[in-house]
Amino acid sequence: MSLAPQELENTASKYASQAIKFDSQGARGMAISNYQQAIDALVKLLQLYPNSKLNQIYKDRCNSYHNRICSLQQSRGVEPAVDPEASDSDQKASVKRQEDENDFEELVMKVKPDVTWDQVIGLDEAKSALRESIVYPTKRPDLFPLGWPKGMLLYGPPGTGKTMLAAATANEMDGYFINVDASSLMSKWLGEAEKNVAKLFAMARKYAEKEGKAVILFVDEVDSLLGARSSEVGGEVRTKNQFLTEMDGVNGKGKQLMLYVIGATNKPWSLDAPFLRRFQKRIYVNLPTQDARENLFDQYTAKLNKNSTVSSAQLAKLFDGYSASDIKDVCQAAQIKTVHEIFDAPDYHEPIEGEARIQPRSLTADDFKNIMSRRKPSVSLEMIRAYHKWSEEFQAL
Ligand SMILES: Nc1ncnc2c1ncn2[C@@H]1O[C@H](COP(=O)(O)OP(=O)(O)OP(=O)(O)O)[C@@H](O)[C@H]1O
Ligand SMILES: [Mg+2]
Repeated sequence: MSLAPQELENTASKYASQAIKFDSQGARGMAISNYQQAIDALVKLLQLYPNSKLNQIYKDRCNSYHNRICSLQQSRGVEPAVDPEASDSDQKASVKRQEDENDFEELVMKVKPDVTWDQVIGLDEAKSALRESIVYPTKRPDLFPLGWPKGMLLYGPPGTGKTMLAAATANEMDGYFINVDASSLMSKWLGEAEKNVAKLFAMARKYAEKEGKAVILFVDEVDSLLGARSSEVGGEVRTKNQFLTEMDGVNGKGKQLMLYVIGATNKPWSLDAPFLRRFQKRIYVNLPTQDARENLFDQYTAKLNKNSTVSSAQLAKLFDGYSASDIKDVCQAAQIKTVHEIFDAPDYHEPIEGEARIQPRSLTADDFKNIMSRRKPSVSLEMIRAYHKWSEEFQAL
């Protein structure tokens, strides 16, 4: 059975959050094995879809899980001998500090993500809001004597393009993109979450100051910062407060640093008022409209062999309520079905040298209808209503 990318991504997330849970309980073995399974799922994703635009992000996640496994393995059975007087431990501490810094450095994407604005279909409001807030001030800071918004929250149902939008923004500008997944961030620096939120922002500032270039700190699943687990009592409150303080620094009028924080969440209702206030722009990343769905079908069937019954406009009507990522998965499933037919044919044989390779038949409208009957939209109407309701109150463009 072949797995759609979204399913693999979900599997990876599931293992990662299990790992985090075990990690927070000190169950090292289980944590390691779950981190490993999360890595395996991501590696499979990378292998199956080598051209996916989000691969750099998946690689970064693999790295961060891998590092956590290494540090869990190193600390196995070795109790840290803490003796503040001993020079030996000073040395250890400095090595540790160095390691910490390296941990953060590797979150900085040196290569631009390979996603352009054009590839992000629909979402015109979201795109222009990001452009206006990031690209314009970066080009002409002198035109903004009162400053400009630095905190942006992208919220909406899963699979609608939040991560993609952040990647496209980073691609558009000349600067650095720091990508952290808040949930793995909390696990990675367990017990030190508060201190490390500070270090993360310090590193982002360092990059912004050093070269005067724009820096985007993209915090995916930002809601998990609020539910941050910590081994210390009150740790989660302090972590959140640290984040708020750092956001105040970013929003401060004094410095004209090009440091932006983009948060993404599909649970906006779990964010409280102080948190929301620091994200002056709150951008709803909605399900695709009829037009957008048509463009999505154009984009995702462009490379496929299809007959004249396949019309993007009609498919768009049929797939009302499906997310962008659902539509991509549907196109992929349709294509894969025709490949399965080749392998399942009674006369299938390994290609003989010199013989033309069998190609899949062309796709028909019925193929898509077939898939639709077996695949429901991943977002329910009820959920959509909840997002709309929240938007009415909190959206800020
Ligand atoms: N607006 C879009 N235009 C084109 N493709 C899209 C769009 N939105 C999503 N996709 C496709 O779906 C995949 C998943 O999208 P993405 O990761 O950006 O969703 P998300 O909103 O961040 O979801 P989640 O809330 O689950 O993190 C993308 O890799 C892309 O292939
Ligand atoms: Mg995302």
